Amino acid sequence: MKSQSLVAAALAILPRALAITPELLLAANRYSDAKPNPSGDFAFFRVSNYTFETKERAAWWNKLDLKTGKISQWYTGSDISEIVFVGPKDTSIIYINGTNAEEDGGVSLYSADANDLKSAKLIGSLPAPYSGLKAVQTKSGDIHFLVYTHAYPNGTAYNENFAVTPASTARIYDSTYVRHWDTWLTPQRNAVFGGVLKSSHGSYKISGGLTNYVTGICNVTCAESPYDQSDESDYDISPDGSGVIFLTKDTTLPLANYTADVIYYAPFAGSAKDAVPIQARGSTKYPETQGATVVPRFSPDGKKIAYLQMYGISYESDRSSVYVADVNKKNFNVKRLAGNWDRAPDGLAWAPDSKTVYVTAADLGRSRIFPVPLSAGENYAPKNITNEGTVAAFYTLPNGNILVSDSKIWTSRDIYSVTPQGKIAKTYFQANKVDPGLKGLGPEDVSEFYFSTNSTEIDLQAWIIYPEGFSKDKTYPLAFISHGGPQGAHFNSWSTRWNFKTWADQGYVVIAPNPTASSGWGQNLTDSIQGQWGSYPYWDLVHAWKYVNSTLKYVDTSRGIEAGASYGGYMTNWMQGHEMGRWFKALVTHDGSTSTLNQYASEELWFMNHDFSGPFNETGFTKSSPYSEWNPLLYVNEWATPHFVVHNELDYRLPVSEGILLFNMLQTKGVPSRFLSFPDENHWVLNQENSLVWHTEIFKWINYYSGISKASSPY
Ligand SMILES: *[C@@H]1O[C@H](CO)[C@@H](O)[C@H](O)[C@H]1NC(C)=O
Ligand SMILES: *[C@@H]1O[C@H](CO)[C@@H](O)[C@H](O)[C@H]1NC(C)=O
Ligand SMILES: *[C@@H]1O[C@H](CO)[C@@H](O)[C@H](O)[C@H]1NC(C)=O
Ligand SMILES: *[C@@H]1O[C@H](CO)[C@@H](O)[C@H](O)[C@H]1NC(C)=O
Ligand SMILES: *[C@@H]1O[C@H](CO)[C@@H](O)[C@H](O)[C@H]1NC(C)=O
Ligand SMILES: *[C@@H]1O[C@H](CO)[C@@H](O)[C@H](O)[C@H]1NC(C)=O
Ligand SMILES: *[C@@H]1O[C@H](CO)[C@@H](O)[C@H](O)[C@H]1NC(C)=O
Ligand SMILES: *[C@@H]1O[C@H](CO)[C@@H](O)[C@H](O)[C@H]1NC(C)=O
Ligand SMILES: *[C@@H]1O[C@H](CO)[C@@H](O)[C@H](O)[C@H]1NC(C)=O
Ligand SMILES: *[C@@H]1O[C@H](CO)[C@@H](O)[C@H](O)[C@H]1NC(C)=O
Repeated sequence: MKSQSLVAAALAILPRALAITPELLLAANRYSDAKPNPSGDFAFFRVSNYTFETKERAAWWNKLDLKTGKISQWYTGSDISEIVFVGPKDTSIIYINGTNAEEDGGVSLYSADANDLKSAKLIGSLPAPYSGLKAVQTKSGDIHFLVYTHAYPNGTAYNENFAVTPASTARIYDSTYVRHWDTWLTPQRNAVFGGVLKSSHGSYKISGGLTNYVTGICNVTCAESPYDQSDESDYDISPDGSGVIFLTKDTTLPLANYTADVIYYAPFAGSAKDAVPIQARGSTKYPETQGATVVPRFSPDGKKIAYLQMYGISYESDRSSVYVADVNKKNFNVKRLAGNWDRAPDGLAWAPDSKTVYVTAADLGRSRIFPVPLSAGENYAPKNITNEGTVAAFYTLPNGNILVSDSKIWTSRDIYSVTPQGKIAKTYFQANKVDPGLKGLGPEDVSEFYFSTNSTEIDLQAWIIYPEGFSKDKTYPLAFISHGGPQGAHFNSWSTRWNFKTWADQGYVVIAPNPTASSGWGQNLTDSIQGQWGSYPYWDLVHAWKYVNSTLKYVDTSRGIEAGASYGGYMTNWMQGHEMGRWFKALVTHDGSTSTLNQYASEELWFMNHDFSGPFNETGFTKSSPYSEWNPLLYVNEWATPHFVVHNELDYRLPVSEGILLFNMLQTKGVPSRFLSFPDENHWVLNQENSLVWHTEIFKWINYYSGISKASSPY
């Protein structure tokens, strides 16, 4: 405790941080979550960073002593990709080495003692790029583990190195869902595999082949686990190693139309043939629950399975509830907890006593942790035990406390423990106190306000982020940032792609509003977007802007800029054709939608079918159908504000033609505009070098038009 406050006092006298430049943001350390060992004595977390001068990436593992708070570098190198705690001692681990001696594109497994990594022993090679290791020790001393990778339709794991390249590159499909996110669909899909490790000379040997639990439930067009871009959070192994659970999209429904999932249970010693659904759609006591499922988790005593499921069958942003099932193949006896709670939980962990589940949920611009006891009835109202920040991951400790890894607008990673009652027990790590690039950032850089609007009776929220050296007696041009989704929110979280502080430190006051469709203020606000893409959220943004214009004297709205990605890009394009577009000096659209009629070029047909109030064959493309009514392209005559357009080639949900269309129309009209595209990036710009160009070019553009830069051109 004492040393903590000494550190705080020492930091208080440090000079303020330098502005967060794009280079600082992109070079700064990035942290995984901290995962504790079984006794809660220590935790591991991974760190990586990038150096622009040398173009080198560095990665290492840190060990955090949960008793003393001491953090030490445990292993330097990127070959250890995953660590699980399993074995006879609380310090016993098995890790995945992302390479193997055969160099065949597979990985290898090693066992070690966390206190003596040098004596790590090779267990064996796996001949495919498996990841997502989960493992438990059984009564016999064997280890049962799960991993996942792509599998062929016949169930065999897929290894690109051994794949036969056909003579032609043709792709042929007979139904929708031909590509998703950044990948064209192939016959290979994810599958969960199980394996057994037997004790051998102080280590283990892989015993027999791996079992595929997924392929074969249905043919390859159907079952996939983890689903698409998801990960090991889609499956789990029981604490005694006897059972496996995993989720897959409902195998009876076409992928493009529905979001419904089913969780299967299979005996570890069984196969896909033995997998049974825990809750088949339509045959349960909760027939209204038909939607997407996340985080199926066995309880520590192995008797229960908890998971979260949305209601709507074709809605990706519906309210979700907590469900708990008995581990009993004859009758899973599913029970819903706190079913009337107006939040959408999205993460879950069991308390050590198996009597409570902790969930995370979007709540008023934060992602907070809420305990839900198994005794909770439908009307139970969970109370948050964390406040600021957006939880990245959390684990319960043997003493009942919870180890939380989160981020905030002012810190890329905080690690702390909290009691079940919501008292912070110990703060272990705050990136803004140690990272050279982040030093000096703090809660004082951020504020929020609520504003009234005419689309809803509740007041809506917006974040304010102040620039470096802010003084309320000066004025700063406005950077108004519209969020994507539209069901989603601007959270109190750190982002390496839309980092509010990085934008602010160019010399802006950033305003990040949460209009209609935002998550965390109840499902009605989220749902109200349906059929209203260009109305409610737009009016809300008008009201947020007017609040800023009339209330925040330090914001110069006459030199403002607006920017948004995805639905935020759609909103930017919508503004361009409406009054609000004239309130900004420059606009930035990243991977947005230019013509809503083109949304059927996306694979996520469920999304448009929901948001535009039905499939187009039902609503029609008539003027009054939401597809046409809220089409930004129809207002092209009004376009006039200098507009920077970004659109990446690998974005298959919002194809690159949307950006080209926008740019070509702007150019034809003679509106100052610029087009930036990355052939190797998807909906997001992930590569640091690409991201640096993204930031540099966008900032040149907005800084020129806002008058922040004295450059002679925006290029
Ligand atoms: C990146 O990691 C390397 C290796 O640990 C370290 O020397 C360097 O200072 C780190 N860079 C930043 C910006 O933190
Ligand atoms: C990972 O595997 C490679 C190749 O087999 C080996 O050289 C390296 O020492 C291993 N690293 C660790 C930490 O096990
Ligand atoms: C499964 O299919 C792949 C690709 O055609 C093939 O290489 C592999 O041998 C097959 N596996 C079995 C068990 O037949
Ligand atoms: C694969 O599944 C689809 C969808 O259920 C079905 O239409 C098709 O007949 C199945 N094909 C085979 C070979 O089982
Ligand atoms: C799924 O969507 C496709 C494409 O719009 C359509 O042809 C098909 O009828 C839909 N199927 C169901 C079961 O809704
Ligand atoms: C729970 O959230 C409220 C805001 O709704 C906040 O004021 C409070 O501090 C949070 N509780 C805890 C224990 O963090
Ligand atoms: C809300 O205000 C906007 C103008 O700011 C106006 O266009 C719209 O019609 C209003 N909506 C309602 C429901 O009054
Ligand atoms: C739900 O939202 C709509 C649109 O924002 C609003 O008109 C309505 O009053 C809200 N209903 C409730 C029950 O809050
Ligand atoms: C913004 O505020 C200024 C100064 O108060 C006012 O003159 C102007 O009309 C406002 N703009 C809008 C669009 O409301
Ligand atoms: C529109 O398509 C859906 C399937 O996506 C189908 O169920 C429905 O019958 C179609 N409606 C009309 C009017 O064709």
